Amino acid sequence: MAKSQETFTSALTPEGPVAESISHLMWVMIGAFGAVFVVVMLLLVISLIAKRRSKYPTPPLGDVWFISIGGILIPGLILTFVLIYTLLTTSNIQIPETTSLTVKLTGHMWWWHVEYPDSGVTLANEIYVPVGEAVKIELRSADVIHSLWVPSLGGKTDLIPGHVNYHWFKADRPGVHRGQCAEFCGLQHAKMALNVIALEKEEFQKWLQSKQKAVSIPDDPRLLLGYQTFMRVGCAECHAIKGTDAIADVGPDLTHIGSRLSLGAGTIPNSKGSLAGWILNPQEIKPGNKMPRTYLEPDQLHALVSYLMTLD
Ligand code: CUA
Repeated sequence: MAKSQETFTSALTPEGPVAESISHLMWVMIGAFGAVFVVVMLLLVISLIAKRRSKYPTPPLGDVWFISIGGILIPGLILTFVLIYTLLTTSNIQIPETTSLTVKLTGHMWWWHVEYPDSGVTLANEIYVPVGEAVKIELRSADVIHSLWVPSLGGKTDLIPGHVNYHWFKADRPGVHRGQCAEFCGLQHAKMALNVIALEKEEFQKWLQSKQKAVSIPDDPRLLLGYQTFMRVGCAECHAIKGTDAIADVGPDLTHIGSRLSLGAGTIPNSKGSLAGWILNPQEIKPGNKMPRTYLEPDQLHALVSYLMTLD
């Protein structure tokens, strides 16, 4: 479903009101300061040419009026205009009083824990949102300072240990918005991405309901072997799968891993092959992350990967 959707990655193509306000401000600033740059460079060229032609050392434009108007009045007016525009933009992008959905987001080195407190759904590295509705994001950090940045939907807000910050956005149309941690947080800061997936309202409601169903222990013998492997070889000591005895929260929640767009917070695409490679040697793929190597027999690995991929 989401895999074939349009992807938005750039602050230059805003896809929601917050990003739009910020992008307007950016273009106004680039326009104003670009014009100032061009005028100053022209004056510089004019004065250099005039000075060469003149026998006298006096600069041709050096009178008091010129300095007062060009050096004080005009810059003062331009800076005041930009200040007012910035303040207006800041008040425009305040969190609205009423938001239709709250999502809790906790930053970890180097992945994102995502919770829907009203429905009990937990995800990792993906936030599903309904199109056209204001979504409030509660930001926390489990370790160091991270920063949430989804360029096509809005600006950056830090996730600070011991403090709750708030962020919000509204997506104009369906699509996948790529986000990135925007505060250096250690070795794999660059590989701390997330996807915000905007769905039409009805589709989002269906999605939310489908995610609330409990996972059951599989009947199929191969999948059952995968489940048993998961519980025995150490996976369950760090990860949770809702509906099973795996309830740890050291690593990402795996209840819906099969439907994720990527693994390792945007590091590799989500497929059986890359999941198998990740389980065997995650340090090769994302050095420094907390997951150790897992030593498995081929049939165990095959069964484990097949089982995890059924969890969507
Ligand atoms: Cu988290 Cu950079």
